[in-house]
Amino acid sequence: MQIDPNLDLEAEINRLRKEMNAVILAHYYQEDEIQDIADFVGDSLDLSRKAANTDADVIVFCGVKFMAEVAKILSPQKQVLLPDLKAGCSLEDSCPPDQFAKFRSDNPDHIALTYINCSADIKALSDVIVTSSNAEAIINQIPEDQKIIFAPDKYLGGYLSRKTGRDMLLWQGTCIVHEQFSEKELVKLKTRHPQAKIIAHPECPENLLAHADHIGSTSSLLRFTDENLAEEFIVLTEPGILHQMKKKNPHKKFYDVGGTKGGCEHCNACPYMKLNTLEKLYLCMINRAPEIHVDEKTRKKAVQSLDKMLQMSSAVVSSI
Ligand code: 13P
Ligand code: SF4
Repeated sequence: MQIDPNLDLEAEINRLRKEMNAVILAHYYQEDEIQDIADFVGDSLDLSRKAANTDADVIVFCGVKFMAEVAKILSPQKQVLLPDLKAGCSLEDSCPPDQFAKFRSDNPDHIALTYINCSADIKALSDVIVTSSNAEAIINQIPEDQKIIFAPDKYLGGYLSRKTGRDMLLWQGTCIVHEQFSEKELVKLKTRHPQAKIIAHPECPENLLAHADHIGSTSSLLRFTDENLAEEFIVLTEPGILHQMKKKNPHKKFYDVGGTKGGCEHCNACPYMKLNTLEKLYLCMINRAPEIHVDEKTRKKAVQSLDKMLQMSSAVVSSI
């Protein structure tokens, strides 16, 4: 469907939001204009909590598919829309359900603690879901003699193992965005801006995390830049988060590291997150499609591991 170039997209989205009794949820990696029109912007844990508790009839999810699936699993009676169904995630792709089921049956004495960046089928095969905001707090509640599988992110799993002292069996998935930050570029930037604090998402490889003054989820990184007295920050995560950082502290300076090629602006943009645009947001509302569906058998199993996460992290503060 062609959009009339004279259409006031923002006004139309606002009109549809009211008419449909819809809530627009957006992740911090979305385009600035999507973040600005959303009812709520947050990290994976915030967005799961919002999706579980909203009284809207329709959830329009501006993020990637696994996030919209979480909304559907937690609120099955609601219609969940995603502007672009191709908005996937390399971590989800790295963990096919048949291979994960075999991994589990090869390790029957392990529980599966699984990062939320995975498909509904993987959630259905898992015991507890975690996000980067609550993973440490959840691991610390698991008895010391209980063996753990951590999937699918090997870097997040490695970071959590070092942080908690727990030896976990790691699935070998990676985030294509965080794994390609260049250590050389990071060191160059730090040399140019010696006062800057380095902040990093735990999906980054260990050699990059070793330079960081603070490691955390997107909302934790945002909170750090708001509360820390430093005036400059080198940011090792997807550059969409810079929008909220700059909005909260316009006088502070934020440096985006760039990828292996170095020096290119936003070459660490997540290709999946960036598939959503304001135009596609409008179209998905007017067409009520693409819609997210999760079959009921999978949903019933997946909701258990997600509910367990929400219970075990009820005290974790994520959003600011
Ligand atoms: P957060 O939960 O920290 O927002 O992370 C989501 C994500 O996809 C990171 O790449
Ligand atoms: Fe997945 Fe990485 Fe994109 Fe996050 S940034 S959605 S982990 S590919």
